[in-house]
Amino acid sequence: MTDSSTQDVLLRITHLQKHFGGLHVTNDVTLDMRAGIVTTLVGPNGAGKTTLFNLITGHLTPSGGDILWQGESIVGQPHWKIARKGVARTFQDLRLFDQMTVYENVLTVTEPVSWLWQPGGRTGRKARQDKVMHILERTRLADKANVRAIDLAYAERKFLSLARIMATDAKLWLLDEPASGLDRGSYELFLELLRSEVRNGVTVCIIEHNLDIVIGISDRIAFLDQGKLLADGDPDTVLNDPHLAAIYFGDQAA
Ligand SMILES: Nc1ncnc2c1ncn2[C@@H]1O[C@H](COP(=O)(O)OP(=O)(O)O)[C@@H](O)[C@H]1O
Ligand SMILES: [Mg+2]
Repeated sequence: MTDSSTQDVLLRITHLQKHFGGLHVTNDVTLDMRAGIVTTLVGPNGAGKTTLFNLITGHLTPSGGDILWQGESIVGQPHWKIARKGVARTFQDLRLFDQMTVYENVLTVTEPVSWLWQPGGRTGRKARQDKVMHILERTRLADKANVRAIDLAYAERKFLSLARIMATDAKLWLLDEPASGLDRGSYELFLELLRSEVRNGVTVCIIEHNLDIVIGISDRIAFLDQGKLLADGDPDTVLNDPHLAAIYFGDQAA
């Protein structure tokens, strides 16, 4: 008999610690990201959600604990090496190439299979171009393909950030508040796209505040507060926990 509880773990975080001087920003976090599901990270501002992403991606080095990617420790590896393994992320501040067009922003993410002068080079280039246009159509940016990223509206910039991650072949997507500030029509499109990617095999960890989105997308919710993982379970249980609601809405009301 196989042990399905460990077999499908893509990323395993154990007893992770991060201090900034005396500030304990990640405090003994142990969490698995299981393949094919959406794990949502929730918690008040300053809880340590973005820091957890930075630790996973190698943008920060942990003070203690371990991070295993498909069973192998990735702690201490540079962020580009971790990205190559199949971990992609979006940033809260998006970090688009503002002076490039929408099309170029997405094209730069796709890897050339071979150089133009090599056998298959030209068909490879055509396949990349078609892939980018298909993603721009799905994210409703096709008619903005030649517009510079800096000239896009707010929601369009959020979708461009999503389009860029869709163009990677990453197995795990870490999305840092990708839907914040979107109107209802936009976030319904966002949810539809995300669900379809998950059906196609992508594993997602998303930081999100909007409860409609949290309820609409989560297979599992991890609740962080002051660097500690206070809960990790099915959405109904976590969202109906009065202790967590007090922490969360206490912060929102502040
Ligand atoms: N590079 C840093 N140096 C010092 N403190 C930091 C740094 N990055 C984050 N912090 C602090 O860590 C805490 C958690 O931040 P963050 O992970 O961004 O929270 P969240 O994403 O949950 O809002 C905050 O108190 C923040 O000020
Ligand atoms: Mg954050």
